[in-house]
Amino acid sequence: MNRTDSNNESHFITLEGGDGSGKTTQIELLANYLNERGIDVHITREPGGTRLGEALREIILHSVDPINDKVELLLLFAARSQHITNVIKPRLSNGQWVLSDRFTDATFAYQGGGRQMGIKDIEVLQTLVQGDFRPDKTILLDLPVEQGILRLTRRGETRDRIEQQDLAFKQRVREAYLERYHQHHSRIALVDASASIHEVHKAITIEIANMVSSSGNRNGD
Ligand code: TMP
Repeated sequence: MNRTDSNNESHFITLEGGDGSGKTTQIELLANYLNERGIDVHITREPGGTRLGEALREIILHSVDPINDKVELLLLFAARSQHITNVIKPRLSNGQWVLSDRFTDATFAYQGGGRQMGIKDIEVLQTLVQGDFRPDKTILLDLPVEQGILRLTRRGETRDRIEQQDLAFKQRVREAYLERYHQHHSRIALVDASASIHEVHKAITIEIANMVSSSGNRNGD
């Protein structure tokens, strides 16, 4: 069952893409766009979004001790479970829209594709943690891997455990994301992230236009 069938007021939207694809900038622009239309928005991220989730994020991205792939996968889903139960579902029930910088498609892309874990175990954990809960819409910001790396280099920040992975890993992530898009094209919208910030924002607003018009003007005017 699609969650929106039971609640047509709020929507759960996720932004996905490789490192350097501009998700964080675009999520802020999207939130402003929705706010201007009277829609109450909660921005969150994965891994993270709760106190426990942020603590797990720190471990997942910066652990000095080696973490094997299975542990990484379990930590991601532990953080996700807390996030869904304590933040995402309660906010949606309150009529807020939830915008998440990454969600489970990232696990299929990074752990399934990048780490080459395949999709079976991820699907099992997805069912355990989410049941049939899925985003209403996912924006996939697609960018050639080399451009993503260039953007990260320009930012000059220290790279986390996952950002440090090699080119082949990042190519597999991109391919796995595109595979997700082909398999779930009614939910996932593909947006060319190599365009300007403004053009990417415009493309995203077009993708969610029907959700905005169906939710009406919450200001009551
Ligand atoms: P961010 O830099 O976009 O906030 O994401 C943090 C990193 O975590 C990013 O390199 C992707 C990675 N990640 C996974 O590997 N699997 C996941 O399920 C999620 C949500 C993120």
